[in-house]
Amino acid sequence: MKTIILPSKKKVAETVADLIQEKIKKKPNLVLGLATGGTMMPLYKELRKRKIDWSKVKTFNLDEYVGIKKKKDSYHYFMDKYLFSKINIKRKNTHFPKNKDYDSEIRKAGGIDLQILGIGVNDHIGFNEPRSSFTSKTRVVNLSDETRRSNSRFFQSLNSVPKKAITMGISTILKAKEIYLIATGRKKALAIQKAVECKPNEKIPATALKKHKRVSFFLDKKASGKLGD
Ligand code: F6R
Repeated sequence: MKTIILPSKKKVAETVADLIQEKIKKKPNLVLGLATGGTMMPLYKELRKRKIDWSKVKTFNLDEYVGIKKKKDSYHYFMDKYLFSKINIKRKNTHFPKNKDYDSEIRKAGGIDLQILGIGVNDHIGFNEPRSSFTSKTRVVNLSDETRRSNSRFFQSLNSVPKKAITMGISTILKAKEIYLIATGRKKALAIQKAVECKPNEKIPATALKKHKRVSFFLDKKASGKLGD
């Protein structure tokens, strides 16, 4: 596992965008796993600014809420708003999990070349909450109170945050050929410390990444603040 610490979240976004741009240049039909949430917004802003030919790229998003009341609260809407509507990607090449066939859809596309991940304050990756099995595949999960509280900032109220989501499993994520995890801000420092310093165990989902050979953590100074404490 590589840990890359950069001075600011802007620098993190620029660095990861450079690498994605480079990968698409080398392989125009790159299969990219994507995440949503606040951490991804600077990255998508950066990617929107670049001259990248997305016409052959395929994307697979990590997760989606189940039982959403307003379309604009969905991750599908988020991706359209912050990325897909601003680039020349073909909508038929963008995918969101709907059922357990997602893993075989990914396989048929040739597997994910690069998976982008954020991390929850409770160390979730995708919506694989603590105690998710490391062998889990795409499935419907219950969201923890902590995750619902943390994500309520994107909703009108805590009550409108769905209780369930569908997410790639941990084994689905680990099948990606390469993984970049991005974390910025002080709120993520403890989650990062645990992900980097604890042995793989199912109480801390992000520790599963230690089982993968090509994982890089891109952190700003604040998110890396507890490393080595
Ligand atoms: C979202 C996802 C989640 C987020 C995580 C961090 O698609 O997979 O694991 O990456 O909850 O969210 P933010 O970036 O909003 O702190």
